[in-house]
Amino acid sequence: MSRAITPVPPGGLRILLVEDSDDDAALVERELRRGLAVSQLRRVQDAATMRDALDGSEYDVVVSDWSLPSFGAAAALEVVREAGLDLPFIITSGTIDEQTAVAALRAGARDFILKTNLARLVPAVEREVRESKARAGHRRADTDLHASEARYRELFDNSPLPMWVLDRTTLAFLAVNAAAVQHYGYSREEFARMTVEDIRPAEDLPALQQAVAGAPESDVVWHRKHDGSLIAVEVQSRDVSFEGRPARLVLAHDVTARLQAEEALRKSEEQLRQSQKLEAIGSLAGGIAHDFNNMLSVVLSYASLVLGELKPGDPLRADIEEIQHAGERAAEMTRQLLAFGRKQMLQPRVVDLNRLVAGMEKMLQRLLGAGIDLSLLPTAKLGKAFADPGQVEQIIMNLVVNARDALPRGGKVSIETADVVLDAAYAAQHAGVTPGPHVMLAVTDSGTGMDVETLAHMFEPFFTTKEQGKGTGLGLSTVFGIVKQSGGHVSVDSDLGRGTSLKIFLPSREGEEDDMPQAPERGDLRGKETILLVEDEEQVRVLVRSVLRRNGYNVLEAQNGGEAFLVCEQYDARIDLLLTDVVMPRMSGREVAVRLTGMRPGLRVLYVSGYTENSIVHQGVLDSGVSFLAKPITPEALLRKVREVLDAPAEPGRSA
Ligand SMILES: Nc1ncnc2c1ncn2[C@@H]1O[C@H](COP(=O)(O)OP(=O)(O)OP(=O)(O)O)[C@@H](O)[C@H]1O
Ligand SMILES: [Mg+2]
Repeated sequence: MSRAITPVPPGGLRILLVEDSDDDAALVERELRRGLAVSQLRRVQDAATMRDALDGSEYDVVVSDWSLPSFGAAAALEVVREAGLDLPFIITSGTIDEQTAVAALRAGARDFILKTNLARLVPAVEREVRESKARAGHRRADTDLHASEARYRELFDNSPLPMWVLDRTTLAFLAVNAAAVQHYGYSREEFARMTVEDIRPAEDLPALQQAVAGAPESDVVWHRKHDGSLIAVEVQSRDVSFEGRPARLVLAHDVTARLQAEEALRKSEEQLRQSQKLEAIGSLAGGIAHDFNNMLSVVLSYASLVLGELKPGDPLRADIEEIQHAGERAAEMTRQLLAFGRKQMLQPRVVDLNRLVAGMEKMLQRLLGAGIDLSLLPTAKLGKAFADPGQVEQIIMNLVVNARDALPRGGKVSIETADVVLDAAYAAQHAGVTPGPHVMLAVTDSGTGMDVETLAHMFEPFFTTKEQGKGTGLGLSTVFGIVKQSGGHVSVDSDLGRGTSLKIFLPSREGEEDDMPQAPERGDLRGKETILLVEDEEQVRVLVRSVLRRNGYNVLEAQNGGEAFLVCEQYDARIDLLLTDVVMPRMSGREVAVRLTGMRPGLRVLYVSGYTENSIVHQGVLDSGVSFLAKPITPEALLRKVREVLDAPAEPGRSA
């Protein structure tokens, strides 16, 4: 229907009369005008004029003679139909003939009126116009309904969020929108063949059944896309009726990216918190260790000096040895604390980890005992690492001992090496990682594994799950400190009941392996040279002075830089060695050394310190050409180092 039918104008009916006989036309017109308000009445006699009339204006009813010589009611009906109009069509005829009437009604006429009974005409016209108006009203309502349905379909289809309608009983997709097709990758046809169960992971199905049976869900669930990937989707749904069926309208908002971003943020915050915590504990540990080293220097050295004075059978020997023993254990713990605090002195070189591990194999196997099988899995042509070899040995020892402790009933331990490149993505996810080539060393055991709680605290100093007296909880914190100070990274994989794999990553370095330093032979540790001793801690100064004097040295002393200059100025003879503490208030050992060597060229320098200090080291790495003795001091180590420095061939610019 292309043309809208307007209601009857208030002025009266508009009638199109198809009639060839003037008399009949007059008759019919009179009848119509008698019973009806007629605003317009046009008479036509052939198809062309009739088309013309219908084209030019609107009519409410057609009254047509049955048979015209060249143009009958049937043809007139055809014209109306062609025009796409729903016009009531009433036929008038001079004769009655049942066959004719049936044919006319079949062709679409609304009524058939004998000209001999024209009294029926007016009521028939009135009825038909009324019914036609009602039909038009219904049609209008229908068109409106269709238009609004189309509008809503369009809203559904153009929604930027994937949406669909599910059959509430079969869970089949009854309708999906374009966003769903586009986002999920299934075609409309594929959707039409699926139920929502097909896009949910199998383990979700029981929950899905419950949700469908129960209240409308608003939840985050997993959906499988056409390409097989799973996405996290925030689903909102409500019950609707769709084409008469109980259905559910579902809105699916893909929140995968948001959840991933939230997770990544949470992880990096957690890592940051963790590393800040370890950092704080580290500086605390470093500070404590510094003071401890001074006290331990005193304890260990006097114990050693007293032992040197006692005769072999003296009953006091055992007591002093106990003191010395306890002092050594405390020194070891202090060393570990320093390692964790990344404040110990590292002397890194180019190291071949395969060779280093191979050199430890016998000792490690002995450490593990008969019930534990040790296998070495070295990667051929492994790159070289840049680290302090002694410290790396310490790391391997600590890890292997932990592996042994995790295998009370025996099992397997392996040590593996590999070249690994830690990329930017990995660095972004792991705090403190510098991207680049690394050498990896992994110690893996088939032991007890760790629970979440242990994993969260394992690197903290003094965290141990071992019974009192069995573990100090310093093993892994030392490993962590050494690796971090070496610019590396530690990672751990552990499955409760299955085992643990601890990996350390050390920065790799091109080049040939450096030779390990040779331990100096135990020669004569005495000397006659003049040594200027600068140390702010009185007990330590007295101790060092006493050790050096007992061994023949001439000792000048100062408790800070200022005093040292004074001594230097007043003392006319040669000074062979400046022995200075590194960390002192006001003026560091480094500054003292720079100024004094300026005053006395050729003066040799030996630094003593409880921990690293940036004036002579960088990131805990000793500047080359600097001689250094770590605290706690023991008489033997002190005398040996002093001789080493004094006996070294003179090298211009070597001293400071
Ligand atoms: N290979 C491993 N398997 C299972 N748990 C481990 C492993 N390595 C470390 N742990 C856990 O981490 C804790 C801390 O280890 P860490 O080496 O720091 O201390 P410790 O071994 O307890 O004591 P210490 O090493 O000072 O003697 C251990 O007590 C243990 O619970
Ligand atoms: Mg341990």
